[in-house]
Amino acid sequence: MPVIHFTLNGKPVSVDTPLDMPFLWVLREVLSVTGPKYGCGVGVCGACTSHLDGQAFRPCIHPASSVEGHQVTTIEGLGAPGLHPVQQAWIAEDVAQCGFCQPGQIMAAVDLLRRNAHPTDAEIDAAMSDNVCRCGTYVRIRAAIKRAAQALQQANGGG
Ligand code: FES
Ligand code: FES
Repeated sequence: MPVIHFTLNGKPVSVDTPLDMPFLWVLREVLSVTGPKYGCGVGVCGACTSHLDGQAFRPCIHPASSVEGHQVTTIEGLGAPGLHPVQQAWIAEDVAQCGFCQPGQIMAAVDLLRRNAHPTDAEIDAAMSDNVCRCGTYVRIRAAIKRAAQALQQANGGG
């Protein structure tokens, strides 16, 4: 089988896998990286959301070949060695209920704040609307994103 090479959570990785295997399967089944969840498998629920070169992507609809030479970050590597401010805000707002969707929600929220440091409620709702939460934690997700935006502003010297 072909070998693909990429960086996963800061470490170089090589895997021997069919090039068309969905990358979520590579993460979960080959590499035992189970933070990205399998919800729909067709790119519509957001449970698998991770980052490719710092931008949110859905590994369930990306073939393994697409990550060759790229940087992949999953929830496991987001805040290493400590918690990311978005993760801290999630804890402070007690967002999670069952938790299944939460890795994807957090990875999507980090990407939103990278693109928009101070999103409005409407912008948060629009950006996060493709990340489904069966437990309905949306109000707490919004609060956590606002809390994280403030923390990031303070960390960047914005007061
Ligand atoms: S499992 Fe990837 S978007 Fe649903
Ligand atoms: S916390 Fe249960 S699905 Fe979102």
